[in-house]
Amino acid sequence: MDFKFTPEQEMTRKMAKEFAEKEIEPIAAEIDEKEVFPEKVIKKMGELGLMGVFIPEEYGGAGLDTVSYALAEEEISKASASVGVIMSVNNSLVCDPLYKFGNNEQRSKYLKPLASGQKLGAFALTEPNYGSDAAGIECKAVKEGDFYILNGNKQFITNGKEAKIFIVFARTGTKEQRHRGISAFIVEKGFKGFKVGKEEKKLGIRGSSTTELIFNNCTVPKENLLGTENEGFKIAMFTLDGGRIGIGAQALGIAQAAFEASVKYSKERVQFQKPISNFQAIQWMLADMATEIEAARLLILKAAYLKDKGEKEEYIKLSSMAKLYASEVAMKTTIKAIQIHGGYGYTKDYPVERYFRDAKITEIYEGTNEIQRIVIARRVLKNF
Ligand code: CAA
Repeated sequence: MDFKFTPEQEMTRKMAKEFAEKEIEPIAAEIDEKEVFPEKVIKKMGELGLMGVFIPEEYGGAGLDTVSYALAEEEISKASASVGVIMSVNNSLVCDPLYKFGNNEQRSKYLKPLASGQKLGAFALTEPNYGSDAAGIECKAVKEGDFYILNGNKQFITNGKEAKIFIVFARTGTKEQRHRGISAFIVEKGFKGFKVGKEEKKLGIRGSSTTELIFNNCTVPKENLLGTENEGFKIAMFTLDGGRIGIGAQALGIAQAAFEASVKYSKERVQFQKPISNFQAIQWMLADMATEIEAARLLILKAAYLKDKGEKEEYIKLSSMAKLYASEVAMKTTIKAIQIHGGYGYTKDYPVERYFRDAKITEIYEGTNEIQRIVIARRVLKNF
């Protein structure tokens, strides 16, 4: 067993950290406050290979591994969770399934521009009436000659406003077939009958767009079926297993940022003639934060390592554990960070209120933590 990173992994972490500190952190509060999509930052991240970290270079990616991706995702999210989710969705939810299930033509046409950061991608599974129960989705795809005709709505789609390429899940079978009647499609913005609907106003991750998608007799060429017909649910599940590593790392970045801000503040803030870090009440909070953050990091890195090794069954469980634990650590840590900052923590003069608002979504998207517990419990019960 070796807890050391490879030189490549270490280099990726360092590069992402330096980039995040120099280019993202100074504008993170503004991105949140003004709800602006950080276009220039995302463009530069594409040039650095951060939009397709584990995709081979021949398809526009950086050709690194999932561990490197998790390390980079943590550093980027530490500076801005909004930038973190834009990166995570493009890498995990769009590039990963295109690489795994796409044919050579689809990889050349769609994966290359996405992994190199020239275009942004989005993943469209959730619908107004089907979130956790993904096998129930109602958006329909009917084959007519050389096209599939899509009808229905998608909800809460990250990157919806700026994305040019969408992985869309739709029902090709009957409702009774549940997960066995779903297919995945590659849809371009600009396809006839496809438009972006309402944009959500959110509590956190306000620099990333979350939109509705509307398909009204949308014509999708049959070549844009990803994988085989009715294989869509498994594609979605495979994709989310990887995505949960990204969201775990995003949550970890938020927690690490809140922890570091708390250490700094507790050393500066003087009460009763002493820095508050001298008081055991604060020390115990910092000790718990540090311990839980370290445990979350180990879970995420183990999940990433198992994905790289191709240990599918074990990795599915670990990625759910990593997302579940890291998101709850992010929530607990950011609450403590505000407490340590006292009244100042409740204001926008310090970043901890942003970390707190950003942390909450990590317990919800890419499978609520209740769903993660279902995934983990099913695998635990199967194995003993
Ligand atoms: N990999 C491959 N196959 C899988 C799988 C996996 N991880 N998990 C399940 N399957 C297979 C099963 O083996 C089963 O196959 P068979 O029919 O051949 O036996 C089939 O899929 C159905 O599995 P289940 O019976 O377990 O299905 P279920 O209806 O009980 O649902 C669930 C399982 C885990 C609850 C699933 O519905 C789920 O993950 N829900 C959450 C959805 C989700 O995460 N949405 C997030 C939206 S995207 C997002 O949030 C992005 C963003 O904005 C950032």
